[in-house]
Amino acid sequence: MTVPQTDPREAFAERLIEDVTRSLETLSVYLGVKLDLYRALADHGPANAADLAASASIAPRYAREWLEQQTTARYLECEDLTAPAEGRRYRLPETRAEVLLDGDSPFHAAPGVTMFGGVAGVLDQLVDAYRSGGGVPYSAYGEDIRNGIAAFNRPQYLHELPAWLEAVPEIDSRLRGNPEAHILDLGCGAGQSTLAMARVYPHAHVTGVDLDHDSIAEARAAAIDANLGGRVDFTDADVAGLSFEAEFDLVTMFETLHDMADPVGALRTARSLLAVGGSVLIGDERVADDLTDDGDLIERFQFGWSVVHCLPATMAEDPVEANGTMLRTPTLARWAQEAGFTYFQVAPIENDFWRFYLLRE
Ligand SMILES: C[S@@+](CC[C@H](N)C(=O)[O-])C[C@H]1O[C@@H](n2cnc3c(N)ncnc32)[C@H](O)[C@@H]1O
Repeated sequence: MTVPQTDPREAFAERLIEDVTRSLETLSVYLGVKLDLYRALADHGPANAADLAASASIAPRYAREWLEQQTTARYLECEDLTAPAEGRRYRLPETRAEVLLDGDSPFHAAPGVTMFGGVAGVLDQLVDAYRSGGGVPYSAYGEDIRNGIAAFNRPQYLHELPAWLEAVPEIDSRLRGNPEAHILDLGCGAGQSTLAMARVYPHAHVTGVDLDHDSIAEARAAAIDANLGGRVDFTDADVAGLSFEAEFDLVTMFETLHDMADPVGALRTARSLLAVGGSVLIGDERVADDLTDDGDLIERFQFGWSVVHCLPATMAEDPVEANGTMLRTPTLARWAQEAGFTYFQVAPIENDFWRFYLLRE
């Protein structure tokens, strides 16, 4: 008996339609986050279109269309589908509210949607960059990328970072035992990791550095809000060529080395700023050692960001080496060696998204 084969053209066309559908639904979530529609539903309870329009200050016709689409997409629940359209009330289940709205939750995935929106604003520039070989500056992606990255990484800094550092006893005991400990957080973005380390080590002084002026402004404001201004400071600078009077017990680079236009230069800087016996701890993408054609969800997620954000942002900086998001272990091992490190090890830290590396003189 012959088994009927699916026409491969049909299967691929279906896959593309499914991809477009998911992308459209992602943009509909972007609207819900940006316009505080989910927030209004969470704060005021089930609502019909007129209620939502009033509480979120949007036009009633759009409120109705969005609520109905969100129901079909299974983001929201409609209390009674048989009720007249104007009277139908919609609710946001609590577990989904946490994923969409709770910035402290380990399940807070909504910032990924905000980042996606940041790419939508630069699509024309991306097309030009691919043709010209130029780039799209990090700042051009605007607050959606900047705030999205900070919010996406924040829960793991809140909940997991203490365990990351404890997993490397040489680092943890040195920072706990030294009342004058200094930590340097390179590529700190909006400073969430910098503040988290200051909380874990209450005697340490922590300095954050980032190239992006707006990120550093946000980091400074966050330090004041967190009452950590006395032990935390931020510098708006390129890591390449950075110098400080202080020497550091620990230099960290969280999800930033792959973005740097001169990664070996950045590692050389990190090495030059270490105190004797100090360590560099890098957290960067947990991707395969080589190209695969059956990548898992995380591999595909990271590669997606590479083509639309990380690589173009690095290409805008006249790079020595433009790596993109896929920082593979053999590449990092080569960079560490070229930067003069003699000790390079994958650190024993579990994380779904990142792999951690320990570098010493
Ligand atoms: C993906 S973001 C991560 C930010 C932060 N570590 C976090 O986890 O939220 C990468 C950061 O690297 C910064 N960056 C890229 N190249 C840099 C350089 N040469 N010097 C300093 N910062 C740089 C970018 O401005 C951006 O804030």
